[in-house]
Amino acid sequence: MLDVKIEAVEGGYAVCADSTLKETIDRVHELVGDVGLIIADPPYGNIVDEAWDRINDSDELFSSWMIKWTRSWTEKLLLPGGAFYVWGGVGKPGFRPFLRYLSEVEQEGRFELANLITWSKKRAYGVQNNYLWTREECAYFIFGDAKKPRCFNVPLLATKRGYVGYNAKYPAKSEFYRRTNVWMDINEMFRGKLHPTQKTQRLHEVMIEVHTQPGEFVIDPFAGAGTTAMACRKLGRKFVVIENDPQYFDEMVVRLQVEVCASKPYDVDHGTEAEITGSVDTGS
Ligand SMILES: C[S@@+](CC[C@H](N)C(=O)[O-])C[C@H]1O[C@@H](n2cnc3c(N)ncnc32)[C@H](O)[C@@H]1O
Repeated sequence: MLDVKIEAVEGGYAVCADSTLKETIDRVHELVGDVGLIIADPPYGNIVDEAWDRINDSDELFSSWMIKWTRSWTEKLLLPGGAFYVWGGVGKPGFRPFLRYLSEVEQEGRFELANLITWSKKRAYGVQNNYLWTREECAYFIFGDAKKPRCFNVPLLATKRGYVGYNAKYPAKSEFYRRTNVWMDINEMFRGKLHPTQKTQRLHEVMIEVHTQPGEFVIDPFAGAGTTAMACRKLGRKFVVIENDPQYFDEMVVRLQVEVCASKPYDVDHGTEAEITGSVDTGS
């Protein structure tokens, strides 16, 4: 018998289960039907010092595992033209599962890589004889034809990117409010994390604003602290977030019960007020 615990919380459901199992995916489908957006922040593979990230398999096995649940989730639940985001990194010599995944996941699949987003962070780390790292990658796929997303609400920055050049072919875009595939305006969390790899909520808010309308469901199969749930709640979307670690799950549920009213922009650093209020010119 499958071990799945489902908690109804304000705005959606928190599920304690292994999100890679067919039974879990079927249960979520029974619960909410097809959806337009899945955001996945899965284990990276021996990058962070956490039990859930300790992978003994080869990168080939790890990337096959990623491909398997990617296909299961997208084929079972994504609407045609629905969006699927998955976070990952460059890895290490001899262990580059995300790069393998990117090069193999489209084959025989029914979805296409629409873009590769780089999240440019502030804090740098690394060694003396190499460039420092300040980046994280997020692959963005469309279920079906990448040129035909079912929903793409044009994402805007709060301020112009500052390019002074002019492109005669795309004059409006030279206004440069359009978000690019390098996200430089969203800081990582330096304090107040509930989970060691907790993402800044604004990152997932952007994805949710772009690919869904209010009232629609979003799924996060690797929920951690419930970042996607909080983002959905703020934006009036519904959510199913799945976490298999009982302790993280319980902490997330408490958070989702306590922070019911987290509905206001929470960090002016992200410069998103104008996007939220729609007070900027789209330049498109
Ligand atoms: C990278 S973290 C996600 C962090 C999250 N994005 C946040 O902002 O808090 C990955 C999470 O997935 C969970 N996890 C790992 N394997 C899982 C599985 N098979 N099913 C469900 N959750 C899993 C881990 O316990 C961990 O909390």
